[in-house]
Amino acid sequence: MKKVDLIHFDFFKHISTDCLKDIVYKYELPKYVYSKKVITESLISLRGNLPPMFEIFYAQKSNPNKNILRHINSLGISCDTASQGEIRAALESGFESEKIMFTGPSKREPELEYAVEKEIFSVNIESVQELMLLDKIAERYGKKQNILVRFNPNYETGEQTRIIGGSGVSKFGIDIEQADDFFVQYQKSKHVSLLGIHIFNSSQILDWEKIYNNTKNVINTAKELSEKYSFKVSYIDLGGGFGIPYGTDEKHLDIKSLGISLTKLVSDKVYNEFLNGVKLIFEPGRFLSGASGIYLAKVQYKKISRGKEILLIDGGIHHFLRPVLLGASHPVVNLSAYYEGREKEKTYMVAGPLCTSLDAYGEDVVLLETKPGDVIAFMNAGAYGYTESMPYFLSHPHAEEIFLD
Ligand SMILES: Cc1ncc(COP(=O)(O)O)c(C=O)c1O
Repeated sequence: MKKVDLIHFDFFKHISTDCLKDIVYKYELPKYVYSKKVITESLISLRGNLPPMFEIFYAQKSNPNKNILRHINSLGISCDTASQGEIRAALESGFESEKIMFTGPSKREPELEYAVEKEIFSVNIESVQELMLLDKIAERYGKKQNILVRFNPNYETGEQTRIIGGSGVSKFGIDIEQADDFFVQYQKSKHVSLLGIHIFNSSQILDWEKIYNNTKNVINTAKELSEKYSFKVSYIDLGGGFGIPYGTDEKHLDIKSLGISLTKLVSDKVYNEFLNGVKLIFEPGRFLSGASGIYLAKVQYKKISRGKEILLIDGGIHHFLRPVLLGASHPVVNLSAYYEGREKEKTYMVAGPLCTSLDAYGEDVVLLETKPGDVIAFMNAGAYGYTESMPYFLSHPHAEEIFLD
């Protein structure tokens, strides 16, 4: 791993050094720290570049912190949820029902009941059986529930690490080859109303052309289905997938080029008539929350094992599993060493307190020379950090979270 400089990270542009020093030197660690301004800036760049017919739903699963949810709600966008708990959190954070969507491959009956009772914008159907169950529930409640149908397409977007999956066997959505089965059942379902389709098969995409091509493919699929099964498409949900650079050798997604090309695409005469009045939806998670967060931990001990210097920190995979789960490279910086102006670099193994050798962040982490008591920061930890971990293993205290203006 290469040594990284604070200058690479939006997080440090938006948080004053004094404020961060306070946290580093005075607060109990380990901790997640989130920056409100980074979230706002990410949303401004997305909103400012996408054509107006695109609506944005924040994928709450990337970070369900209540302060983040309240802030995102105040910015006027909607919320994509994946469980009853997430629907509840969205409502408690101020999102109106008609701004909440519910997606997930194995929703339980009480969750569907809750969604219907709360009259959310859409339940996204992922199997024919689920359609039948939802229809029954809506009948019981005397309501008509809006739905999107999620299809598993036969094309790839090109995600590098398997997070959502590609075009093969998938637990997500209904195989596009089985669309007949869905529409036959839909004709018999009198208590649901189909608003459109949902296709999302890739996460962490950094190449704007892949997102562009995927968008075009999904619009084509929606058009073909609408013609074949004679139904009116009002919404096309393209999922999330907007990546952020984790390694210092990765580049930011070129949102500007994506926006320019999407603007041309949606005004192309091939699509003009079909897309008239249609809303396109993106559900970014990581793009909005990822760069907003860091995970701070303190070096407790330093020791040598068979010639290798090991930093033993008080944080670990019980709070921050992602780097180990996905083999993802999260840059690490020694903040104490930066603040004290140390210059010499060294390579360390960095490991946490859990009794498993899985609890280690690499054997070749390059840091400014590090001492016990130093505070190190794992960067870009705002998405899939706090919640995609294993907090109950070994009964350590849970990580605290701070949300900074
Ligand atoms: C249905 C759905 N929408 C949106 C997202 C958010 O993806 P990302 O964080 O890559 O934008 C996910 C992630 O798993 C998802 O499953």
